[in-house]
Amino acid sequence: MWGGRFSEKPAELMQAINVSIGFDRRLAREDLAGSRAHAAMLRKAGVLSSEDEAAIQKGLGDIEAEMAAGTFPFREEFEDIHMNVEARLRELIGPAAGRLHTARSRNDQVALDFRMWVREACERTAGQVRALQRALVAKAEAHADAVMPGFTHLQPAQPVTFGHHLMAYVEMFGRDASRFADARARMNESPLGAAALAGSSFPIDRHMTAKALGFERPTANSLDSVADRDFALEALAAGSICALHLSRLAEEIVIWMTPQFGFVRLSDAFTTGSSIMPQKKNPDAAELVRAKVGRLLASFTQLAVVMKGLPLTYSKDMQEDKVPTFEAFDALELSLTAMAGMVADLEPDRARMAAAAGAGFSTATDLADWLVRELGLPFREAHHVTGSAVKRAEQLGCDLARLPLSELQALEPGITQDVYQVLTPESSVASRASYGGTAPDQVRAQIERWKEILA
Ligand code: ARG
Repeated sequence: MWGGRFSEKPAELMQAINVSIGFDRRLAREDLAGSRAHAAMLRKAGVLSSEDEAAIQKGLGDIEAEMAAGTFPFREEFEDIHMNVEARLRELIGPAAGRLHTARSRNDQVALDFRMWVREACERTAGQVRALQRALVAKAEAHADAVMPGFTHLQPAQPVTFGHHLMAYVEMFGRDASRFADARARMNESPLGAAALAGSSFPIDRHMTAKALGFERPTANSLDSVADRDFALEALAAGSICALHLSRLAEEIVIWMTPQFGFVRLSDAFTTGSSIMPQKKNPDAAELVRAKVGRLLASFTQLAVVMKGLPLTYSKDMQEDKVPTFEAFDALELSLTAMAGMVADLEPDRARMAAAAGAGFSTATDLADWLVRELGLPFREAHHVTGSAVKRAEQLGCDLARLPLSELQALEPGITQDVYQVLTPESSVASRASYGGTAPDQVRAQIERWKEILA
């Protein structure tokens, strides 16, 4: 492509470090779409004759067909996807191919292709996040009233419902989907026509190509257009947070699956056995989802480090933007779909969860609230009385609901038999009817809200 200035071929080592076709071939579709829009614009601007444009469009169509058929020759000697396509175009249509690169550089070309790839990755991923949310909502609806222990510090805190717990993840993934949508909206400006860095001397119409490629508008500064990779960083940041959420849910599934907890079962479809221990059923898929977040965070860091301190505008460093981004989204998409599958597969053991919900003095706050409500005690004093009741129950080896009335009255004479009504996990959960609380009616209201959003 630059034989005029050069008389020798690159050293083999130069080619080895320079070549990117092995990974940027994933931009083939975007590259062809960008070239088609560019050629149509050049013709409209009078830069390209109708005959040349027709030949170029026909050649690009043939290349598309070759790619679909798997016969397109991806060649290392042509370095990257952009030059592979152009070289093939020349073989197919002759010298007219050389006119396609008028008013364009690989700098704006790669910025365009990569931006379109990331834009679609954001859309695809947001769709998978929505699918996972739907799976969570369906499971939550089936178990909106199944009591389980709610935890802080992984210590039993207050009873909640399984549906409520799953809906917490629906909120998290909702923020993820909206982060992808925000990033997508911000990145939706076309860099095509910035050319190498300074813009073009040809009468190009950047608004036309922007519109043809689904962008809101062209980017407004040609230097920024070729130097910017914020769009990928933002997508990776959104992806990292999403993967982090996935890892928390995965971790909970791993914990819930232990025989010690025994809160949920996963079918054979999402578990594996052991080659030596016949009794084992391991949550490998959940463990791998828990681990994949590493790839996302690493990819974000990798690209941030590549971009850090780069002078304007394009530097070849930026060719290293693609591998981490591709890898990150591959990992995220696999994690999201695997998690959606696991959630649908998840069978909670309601009896075990209910038994655990009542253990660990989980209704102590309900006793304290009752003392405030019925006897008018200040909350701090109620807290103290309840703490003593827990201590006494622990000494007697029973839970609060089984502590004899005489024992409770020894601590606070005003306590009556009525108190036992608030000491079961079911009544505890039903009483937490504040907006967003764990009462099954509240949980169902949130499920309805999300069903509408996700419809
Ligand atoms: N393969 C290159 C990349 O991915 C394309 C841009 C090359 N531009 C240049 N000035 N060498 O960044």
